[in-house]
Amino acid sequence: MRIKKAVIPAAGLGTRMLPETKTIPKEMLPIGDRPSIQYIVEEAVAAGIEDILIITNRSKAAMEDYFDYHPELEERLLRAGREEDAALVRRTADMANVMFVRQKQTLGLGHAIWTARRFVGSEPFAVLLGDDVMAAARPVIGQLDEVADAERCSVVGVQAVSLDDIGKYCSLDVSHYHDRVFRVHNMVEKPKPSEVFSPYAILGRYVLSPDIFPILENLSPGYGGEIQLTDALAVLARRGEMLAVEFEGKRYDTGSLEGYLQCVIELSLQNPRCGEALKTYIKELARTL
Ligand code: G1P
Repeated sequence: MRIKKAVIPAAGLGTRMLPETKTIPKEMLPIGDRPSIQYIVEEAVAAGIEDILIITNRSKAAMEDYFDYHPELEERLLRAGREEDAALVRRTADMANVMFVRQKQTLGLGHAIWTARRFVGSEPFAVLLGDDVMAAARPVIGQLDEVADAERCSVVGVQAVSLDDIGKYCSLDVSHYHDRVFRVHNMVEKPKPSEVFSPYAILGRYVLSPDIFPILENLSPGYGGEIQLTDALAVLARRGEMLAVEFEGKRYDTGSLEGYLQCVIELSLQNPRCGEALKTYIKELARTL
């Protein structure tokens, strides 16, 4: 069975992008003509996911409005003969069943996922982190789902990162299984240099068994005093119930200023509305640098 439900944790405070994120949720920052959260939802939809739960907090109502209808705007566009624009506006609300739940306290990623337990029920589900936007020929979450479906196992999406950077992520103890698939034996969140297992880190994509919920429920706070998803995944990994896929695609960390700007430039170059003009502009600009 292929997964039909996804959880998108988007309750972080966005402190790496201040002062912008004081009033605008980081997930609503534009990547060209769409907010970054739309790219995440589009990836899930392209992989066949129908129900999406976005975990928000009290300062992120703009996201809920974005996935709702906007009758006044749509009517005005239709009256002006702008059917294509009206359809664009309508599509954001109709592309999936997008639901919301608020994480009432900022207690960590593991706690955010735990708030989704009733939505998830008893089937495997996807997790897509709101900060990690992917450019990939095949939806990254779909690449994980294929392996999860074939192996009946939780699967995380990994890539090798530099040893200078691995302390920002997590590090996985892995052994090669086949092709781009690894068995995961253990993992550590935000490793110190002496704790690094391998250069492989999870980059924002997971297909998880609901067995993760009782583990999360009984977990003590980990790195940074927060309930860490990685600590719960490590329990599944040590039980031999986890695989990793080295996914094909490029990941942007849109929660950081540099990653966000790279994402805007590279994805705008692929946008039919502005790609060619932007390419000409960048080539000219590069000559003056
Ligand atoms: C989170 C996860 C971490 C993962 C990273 C990138 O960290 O806790 O394991 O490697 O996302 O997807 P954060 O970026 O919230 O510090």
